[in-house]
Amino acid sequence: MIDADLAIVGAAELVSVRGQAPRRGEAQSDLGIVERGCLAAREGLIVFVGDERDYRRQVRLDRKGVEIDATGRTVLPGFVDPHTHLPFAGSREREFTQRLQGARYEEIAAQGGGILATVEATRRATYDTLVDLGKARLNRMLLHGTTTVEAKSGYGLTLEDELKQLLALKTLDGIHPIDVVPTFLGAHAVPKEHRRDRGVYVRELIERMIPEVAEQGLARFCDVFIDPIAFTLEEAESILGAAARHGLGLRVHADQLGDGGGALLAARLGAVSADHLEHTGEEGIRSLAHSATAAVLLPGAAFFLRSAPSMLGRRLVDAQVPVALATDLNPGTCPTEAMPAILALACLNFGLSPAEAIVAATLNASYALGLAGRTGSLEAGKAADAQVLAIPNHLHLIYHFGVNHCRTVVKRGRVVVEEGALAGGPWHVPSGNGIQDKASGRIGP
Ligand code: NIG
Ligand code: FE
Repeated sequence: MIDADLAIVGAAELVSVRGQAPRRGEAQSDLGIVERGCLAAREGLIVFVGDERDYRRQVRLDRKGVEIDATGRTVLPGFVDPHTHLPFAGSREREFTQRLQGARYEEIAAQGGGILATVEATRRATYDTLVDLGKARLNRMLLHGTTTVEAKSGYGLTLEDELKQLLALKTLDGIHPIDVVPTFLGAHAVPKEHRRDRGVYVRELIERMIPEVAEQGLARFCDVFIDPIAFTLEEAESILGAAARHGLGLRVHADQLGDGGGALLAARLGAVSADHLEHTGEEGIRSLAHSATAAVLLPGAAFFLRSAPSMLGRRLVDAQVPVALATDLNPGTCPTEAMPAILALACLNFGLSPAEAIVAATLNASYALGLAGRTGSLEAGKAADAQVLAIPNHLHLIYHFGVNHCRTVVKRGRVVVEEGALAGGPWHVPSGNGIQDKASGRIGP
């Protein structure tokens, strides 16, 4: 018998997405569905996935174990959101209404709005404020089924303010059930104090900021925004080269507002992911297909910037590029925490099928963070990160859009959302004075 301390039983569909390798092409729609599906976990790891008959025969649940009835419901792996700008302060709703009246994102940035407006607000914010804001955002993510996120700095743009953001991420990873994977994005924009001597800032990134961030172990990845309003291809190559020398994995904001050769560079440097890709041409797509680099698509940002719907997802899957999906959560181009909304947009505007979108938000997203061996699918040996949705099959996740179907979330074998509400605290209880850790110890910078 297999001993377990948590079980989810009797799901109409248990979508396992079994596997550790990234899914490309036709394999991107292979969901590994188990009908009357059950999952059992012990000490945070999955020990059994199969149908109800085998579950009854093979699994013994501890007397104090938790059994979740999923009758009539659908079980999915917890979503992995592999691209967010989580630790920011302020909001940009006025800029949004300007854009609704026709102003362009690039114009607003050129007038000192855009990213630099959020840089000002984030520089003014304290570490405690960033932790509180981050906690509220992670809670909303958890309620929508997300169990692992990547999170970028990039709204500080000085060593001190970037460290403040990264320390907030470290604390959030410690106190919150969601695993937070930190990325250093000091190369998000040239700060206004260096507008006339951008080379000085690039040198600061390479010689001081990247070494310090790596030395303190505060980031696993380094990202660069390659764009006429941000960094050139040449600058990006030297920044990413320095990051690689300091042991950081690489990611790239590529070809978002025009084809700037970002996808080609990401593939050539062996980046873990190339993100956005709204304007990547055929050559860039081919180079990704021949590399290990994942494409992280952000259909929420394309939607929010009102760029025309495209078949971007379809083109990439058909070209054999492993496609992942992310929110891009940020105050300028996609202020949402909700992965289900992103999956709907990926199907309706980027040409993915519901099955492809689910693989993109689970297994392929974990691959895009280098975590495919640990999370992103439901199979023995992986973390018990799962969600139960009040829908009779996975198609309803896309079809019945705009509402949250997520009822139960299990993170590492622990119930953290119960009937649609946060459960098992104390991470969501503001402590006022210092921050309480999961095990009720104290942590902070
Ligand atoms: O991924 N493209 C650059 N960075 C963000 C937008 C950041 C902002 O507008 O604050 C993005 O879309
Ligand atoms: Fe982004």
